[in-house]
Amino acid sequence: MTRSFFKNLFAFTIMISHLTICESQNFPKKNREQRIGQKADSVLRLMTLDEKIGQMNQYNGDWEATGPITNDGDKQNQIRMGMLGSMLNVTGVEHTRELQQMAMKTRLKIPLLFGQDIIHGYRTTFPIPLAEAASWDLDAIELSARIAATEAAAAGVHWTFAPMVDIARDPRWGRIMEGAGEDPYLGSLIAVARVKGFQGKGLGSTDALMACAKHFAAYGAATGGRDYNSVDMSLRMLWETYLPPFRAAEEAGVATFMNSFNDLNGIPATGNAYLQRDILKGRWKFKGFVVSDWGSVGEMIPHGYAKDNYEAAMEAVIAGCDMDMESRSYIKNLSKLVNDGKLSLGSINDAVKRILIKKFEMGLFDDPFRFCNKEREQQQWNNKDNLNAERQIAEKTIVLLRNENQILPLSRQTKTIALIGPFIKSVRDNLGFWSYIWPDDSARIISPWQGIQNKLGKESKLLYARGCNINDSSTSGFAEAVEVAKQADIVIMNVGEAADMSGEAKSRSNIHLPGVQEELIMAIQATGKPVIVMINAGRPLIFNWTADHVAAILYTWWLGTEAGDAMADVIFGDYNPSAKLPVSFPRSEGQIPVYYNHFNTGRPPKNDSDLNYVSAYIDLPNDPKFPFGYGLSYTSFSFSGIDLNKKSFRPGDSLTASITVTNTGKFDGKETVQLYIRDLVGSVVRPVKELKNFQQIFLRAGDSKKISFTITADMLRFYNNKLDYVFEPGDFMIFIGGNSKDVKESSFTLLK
Ligand code: NOJ
Repeated sequence: MTRSFFKNLFAFTIMISHLTICESQNFPKKNREQRIGQKADSVLRLMTLDEKIGQMNQYNGDWEATGPITNDGDKQNQIRMGMLGSMLNVTGVEHTRELQQMAMKTRLKIPLLFGQDIIHGYRTTFPIPLAEAASWDLDAIELSARIAATEAAAAGVHWTFAPMVDIARDPRWGRIMEGAGEDPYLGSLIAVARVKGFQGKGLGSTDALMACAKHFAAYGAATGGRDYNSVDMSLRMLWETYLPPFRAAEEAGVATFMNSFNDLNGIPATGNAYLQRDILKGRWKFKGFVVSDWGSVGEMIPHGYAKDNYEAAMEAVIAGCDMDMESRSYIKNLSKLVNDGKLSLGSINDAVKRILIKKFEMGLFDDPFRFCNKEREQQQWNNKDNLNAERQIAEKTIVLLRNENQILPLSRQTKTIALIGPFIKSVRDNLGFWSYIWPDDSARIISPWQGIQNKLGKESKLLYARGCNINDSSTSGFAEAVEVAKQADIVIMNVGEAADMSGEAKSRSNIHLPGVQEELIMAIQATGKPVIVMINAGRPLIFNWTADHVAAILYTWWLGTEAGDAMADVIFGDYNPSAKLPVSFPRSEGQIPVYYNHFNTGRPPKNDSDLNYVSAYIDLPNDPKFPFGYGLSYTSFSFSGIDLNKKSFRPGDSLTASITVTNTGKFDGKETVQLYIRDLVGSVVRPVKELKNFQQIFLRAGDSKKISFTITADMLRFYNNKLDYVFEPGDFMIFIGGNSKDVKESSFTLLK
């Protein structure tokens, strides 16, 4: 080793420790940013080109594979040689410490970042994100992310690849389970809640993870709902519907972005400079770094956008992708690309500096092992408070879709209950896709069977029959299930799709209840016993017969570790359901995409039977089976007419819309009061309704409350044909109600 190396290293150590001391003082944010920038620059100056390229490289660890494994080269050796900046799927204090120690053997001792998909929990699994979105409870959603971050950070993880903020209007797409549904407004609020939850008090706290807004962009609009498929959409649609949650995450301070697998209007997102350079790092001034999706740099070859990895790496860096997850295109080609003059050193420096800044912000240069604390890991391992929080959040996500004759809630005195269906005793499935299985989980996860049993005294009897499997054609279990049903006072069924039927690479062309489950429901219903059906799924499923016939339906998604207890809390009325669908439920796959905020068209049907050359199906109504924002309660709410304090206002002024909500039923309950607006005439056509605000209120039986919403011109903005974000004077409709369909309406004018 040369003398200059030691000289540099010495200077580096002095500089880092000096800056670290300064850093511990409380500098204002701007100063802090500046100082960290200086620190990153000083490290950058010491780095060779190869070391820089190493920082831009990320490999999978050996704990879990969440993509096609390449296993190319000795990873540990590559860490020691400084060829890696980050790893994913390395978890646990011991394991992360071991690898971090290797990184500490490199010349400049630049710490590794450990990333993982902490999507809805780590040790404690929370409801899948789509379910959480159904709570419309931003505090609960933030808390869920907060707990997930605390548990994961205690296990050595620095960075979560979440939140997924992709808008999804197509339930065939398996990853709809991972987002917040179809609405850009709700999706944006939830994106912010999740970023706040994951990042807690800010990067540098030992219980905070760096969050990652993904997948940038428009991944949720994959053609035909087939995962990884192409996306072709107008820029107006991109800006208006798909970008807002990303923008919101960015404004909330999300540390990183992940680009996406899809091509967008012919350019793969990973190599898309319009998305990453112009919008994200340009217009939005995003300061963090962008990681590719798994292998997506190399996938520009099969996309037909790059000839080879050399070209793919070049396109990705030019487009603004700072880190290469698993494709190895960067590590193998960037040096040559710089030497060939195809990439500027400046573009490499920019990427590396962004990555180093995050490592500084996380405090890893101060102490690379600060997330490797055995005691903290132990404390979070069986944390009862986290489990309790999980149960409470899970209750808030269960959607009551139907409750004929107020069959629910059940009395605890019910004598004999038959529990039927392939999920009644299920354990693993309750966690849903993107969850982690720990060795003692079978004892921890509460099945519906156990949850219901926990509620009942000795006088009640539970009977059980599986009835059928999840996804085959055998009806051999029907007879036994029918016999069991006949012996009971009431039947509770639990059906749906398995946890691995939705998620990444889990698109389905047929989203009916799988296998013979709906036939089983028919057979049980034919006994004449009252039937309650709980449906577990990672997406909206189609179950029209059930929806039209059985007494009660609860949509129970994948609820997490405490699933069974949360279900039982709702069934027996310890929690009065309050969730509202964050996505429309289609009547048939042929209707997809079906979403509430569609345009009117030039030929809207007058009603469901209007087929007179109108925009309609001759075999189906246009509207979904269950609309966006829908969900019942054990009580009922009535809405007065809308009271506007004025009929018109000017930009800069505002208008107040009020409505009185009354709890007209017998139970105390929570209602989500939703405000929608329609711009009647625009320079581009406007949706028939757009969610603009909502409030959740708790009302005791018989109580009323006046709710007011302020409407400003800013709420009426949209992207016009030039992509300017404008409001236009004119007439507007206003709608308020408990879902997007059943609403009170009024109108106002925005003056010039
Ligand atoms: C591919 C997925 O698309 C992405 O969301 C995930 O974070 C990575 N794999 C890593 O697991």
